[in-house]
Amino acid sequence: MKKISQKILVTGGAGFIGSHLVDALIKKNHKVFVIDNLSTGFRKNINPKAKFHKIDLTNHKKIENILKIEKPEVIFHLAAQIDVRKSVADPVFDANSNILASINLIKLAHQYKVKKIIFSSTGGAIYGDTKNRPTGEKESEWPLSPYGIAKLTIDKFLNYYREVHGLNFISLRYGNVYGPRQNPHGEAGVVAIFFNKMLKGAQPVINGNGKQTRDYVYAGDVVNANLLALKHFKKTGIYNVGAGKETDVNQLFREINRHFGDKFKEAHGPAKIGEQKTSCLSFAKIKRELDWTPETNFQDGIKQTFEWFRENSK
Ligand SMILES: NC(=O)c1ccc[n+]([C@@H]2O[C@H](COP(=O)([O-])OP(=O)(O)OC[C@H]3O[C@@H](n4cnc5c(N)ncnc54)[C@H](O)[C@@H]3O)[C@@H](O)[C@H]2O)c1
Repeated sequence: MKKISQKILVTGGAGFIGSHLVDALIKKNHKVFVIDNLSTGFRKNINPKAKFHKIDLTNHKKIENILKIEKPEVIFHLAAQIDVRKSVADPVFDANSNILASINLIKLAHQYKVKKIIFSSTGGAIYGDTKNRPTGEKESEWPLSPYGIAKLTIDKFLNYYREVHGLNFISLRYGNVYGPRQNPHGEAGVVAIFFNKMLKGAQPVINGNGKQTRDYVYAGDVVNANLLALKHFKKTGIYNVGAGKETDVNQLFREINRHFGDKFKEAHGPAKIGEQKTSCLSFAKIKRELDWTPETNFQDGIKQTFEWFRENSK
């Protein structure tokens, strides 16, 4: 008989994607505990049915103690320093929290007999600008930021731990995730940044000519990909999670502006040096192997995100 409820650790469970994932796992009757340092996440995001440990993942000893006590069967690893520009400004800090803390977690997962790790990786920042779009998982990987290098390094470590130590994993390489609860206060998350500004009546600024494209994928669909990675327990490897569509920032701005009766003008500022020009992921593999497709189209996703920001930025 298949076991219904599992003991699950979600790192970064106070964050944007992690908190939606925790909600979905609890809805499925799993026993969930969260590790988060609340650096960009919020206590109010954490489902009250989840046990919470406020710990920094870089505290290797404390993380070991928690794993020893809690004994999770599965780990969803989402906690990360998510700001690409911060990773450029301080690559050592980024490597400490995104590479070393993750290696420690993977090592402990093996040591304490965790059955599977499901990792939140990135598509855009790992493949970089590439001519082959939508980009598949076999594309060569040449990240152009410490953030992308960190994610790729962890993908490789997970592969090493599977091949050499038999630790099962799935790494999900996301496109640009957007949706309710996204934190608008960092440099990442243009949808949240625009909504937050425009709801305050402030003019958003598009970097450069706004022709840079991204693959926008709705948070609910990303949560679904995580649930399928759990459900297909024996499946392992790297999977892209994107909508397979390229949208440029000007189009995104216009879609958002519709919810404000088109009252904002399209304003451009200087281009950010080194910013990636294009990104679009193929989801053929995850569709074929895990039966995942992006169910929320861009217009609906933006509408739901607008409604959430309108309610929550009062
Ligand atoms: N949002 C996107 O577009 C996107 C795209 C690709 C990949 N990802 C990945 O998905 C994951 C979740 O991202 P998100 O958008 O929900 O961001 P988020 O900032 O909302 O979530 C990250 C969470 O991790 C916590 N955290 C950060 N460093 C920590 C540390 N050292 N110890 C403990 N907790 C720590 C933060 O407090 C936060 O709650 C990240 O790994 C991110 O790299 C996100």
